[in-house]
Amino acid sequence: MAENFKVTPWEVKGKVDYDQLVKQFGTRHLTPQLLERLEKHSGKLHFMLRRKIFFSHRDLDWLLDRYEKGEKFVLYTGRGPSGDTHMGHLLPWVLTKWLQDKFDAELYFQLTDDEKFLNSGKLGMEDTHRLSYENALDVIAMGFDPKKTFIFSNQDYGKTMYNLALKTAKLTTFSTAKAVFGFDNSTNIGMVFFPAVQAAPCFLPTELKGKNTPVLIPAAIDQDPYWRITRDAAARLGYYKPAAIHTRFLPGLQGPDAKMSSSVPDSAIFTTDTPEAARKKIMKSFSGGAATLAEHKKHGGNPDTDTSCQYLYQMFEEDDGKVKEIFEQYRSGALGSGEVKNMLADKVVAFLVEHQRKREQARKNLDKFMLKD
Ligand code: TRP
Repeated sequence: MAENFKVTPWEVKGKVDYDQLVKQFGTRHLTPQLLERLEKHSGKLHFMLRRKIFFSHRDLDWLLDRYEKGEKFVLYTGRGPSGDTHMGHLLPWVLTKWLQDKFDAELYFQLTDDEKFLNSGKLGMEDTHRLSYENALDVIAMGFDPKKTFIFSNQDYGKTMYNLALKTAKLTTFSTAKAVFGFDNSTNIGMVFFPAVQAAPCFLPTELKGKNTPVLIPAAIDQDPYWRITRDAAARLGYYKPAAIHTRFLPGLQGPDAKMSSSVPDSAIFTTDTPEAARKKIMKSFSGGAATLAEHKKHGGNPDTDTSCQYLYQMFEEDDGKVKEIFEQYRSGALGSGEVKNMLADKVVAFLVEHQRKREQARKNLDKFMLKD
């Protein structure tokens, strides 16, 4: 089958067809029935669920069955510290925080400074380790509960991770790893082992609590290959298979098919950008409007490709009514590209000012969150 897009944990290329990914990865769409069950337990669905920003899952029905029988689940997610945190990284953490609040769930958060050392041409071990702690500040700034949130750098929690990783490593053949992750003969052997390290936290709560504990992973869909090998190993190791809920990607600022990249500053808004810099980036971002203002007024623009419309829809405008109005007016031409960019910029600036204040405060709270061995 001809495919003009590619999604792996290390590469996202082309225009992603999410329905096709569900088929290719063998996951399930989030159904209205599942959303209803989530709503029953949370009061009101989060807009990222209502709008299908989170669109796919594995075993969420199973997880809710357990939950309804009184068995609590824990959350697991993570971040590869290759640079500063951008809005695309924060998106899944927004829903993770909501899940922690609504389901009173613990969160285990892995910082893969080992992975980013192994697959980077230029970052040393000290660099990725330092970035782990910088990125941890962003996690803490999201407002996770210090009593229920456990963040760890793989370098600093290595003994625990290594021993757990061995279990999955032993059950995963090179042939499977090649097929699932696209490894070849030029892949370094650290990376070949690494998937077992990302699998390890799925079993960590069970080990720490001494009883089988359901795990739900909120993450972008590109991480799903890890859960495939983890789930195969889990069944054979006597652990529960982790459940997962998958999000789409936030588009890059330079257009729906352009990827966000830490090495291209204009491709993303970083949590460390000054409000002025963030506003400038948004004003320069890809627009779905017509070529001239006169044409835009006449023919309208396309909110489905416009960066600002999409950022409002996916992340920054909670109010469904407002989003609908913005999209309609943008499509009709009543709302111009500059206006919608300003709307987004106001939201992003307000967010950044608050986030940066909490991020600085987090420096003195790191100890309350970090696990080490
Ligand atoms: N490999 C991920 C990245 O590069 C980081 C990560 C580790 C992760 N564990 C995770 C992401 C669990 C999501 C869920 O960003």
